[in-house]
Amino acid sequence: MAKRAVGEAAALLVEDGMTVGLGTGTTARWFIEAVGARVADGLHVTAVATSLASATLAERHHIPLLELEGRGVDLAVDGADVVDPDLRLIKGRGAALVRERIVASAAARFVVIADESKLRPGLAGVVPVELLGFGVHRTMALLGRTGAPFTLRLDANGLPVRTDNGNLIAEGDFGAIADPEGLAAEIDAIPGVVGHGLFLGMAALAIVADGAGAVTRMEPGRVLPPYPDPRPHDEEVT
Ligand code: 5RP
Repeated sequence: MAKRAVGEAAALLVEDGMTVGLGTGTTARWFIEAVGARVADGLHVTAVATSLASATLAERHHIPLLELEGRGVDLAVDGADVVDPDLRLIKGRGAALVRERIVASAAARFVVIADESKLRPGLAGVVPVELLGFGVHRTMALLGRTGAPFTLRLDANGLPVRTDNGNLIAEGDFGAIADPEGLAAEIDAIPGVVGHGLFLGMAALAIVADGAGAVTRMEPGRVLPPYPDPRPHDEEVT
């Protein structure tokens, strides 16, 4: 209910003629479905998908897909694993973090959608990192010096997960992250790292819903007032 509510709310931000970045995951899926419903009703958009899975879903809904062009996208909408009050995010449980970052950073507006279980008072938990297979042992050793032991993410058969880019995913559980910007800079500086799941200073708006589907909007550092009551005055509860 919550994931669907935020996906549908975000789809209302899409305007005719926009190029839209389509995120990845079980929340972004609802956004893609809702955009698809609007396309079926006559909305004209083009889209850039952040994963093969999201591209397949978009195609199923007849959403025209493009390669990411130099001018970027008008709006990108994606899920997250952790959201803090400044809209700093941890992403990457779906292993699409590198394409997600490329598209989010190319967006005039990046909107994160999440159920309220993703909200935390500060960033904490597992940080995924995408890395090249070449030099993996050395890259893992350097990652291990950033403050958490890292292990490779394995699939159900015990084999290393490969991303859509053919790379590996390593994960380190940091617990509470006191200095996310410092940690991001440290990880970025490691040769062999392709990207990490710390999305800092990127999201302009969060759309969050509770289990009953009640939607709240947040900008960095503040919760926005609810949407105006759409009922005519004579229907207002007194
Ligand atoms: C994929 C992601 C996802 O957006 C994130 O993991 C949230 O997924 P879900 O909406 O399924 O909870 O970053 O790389």
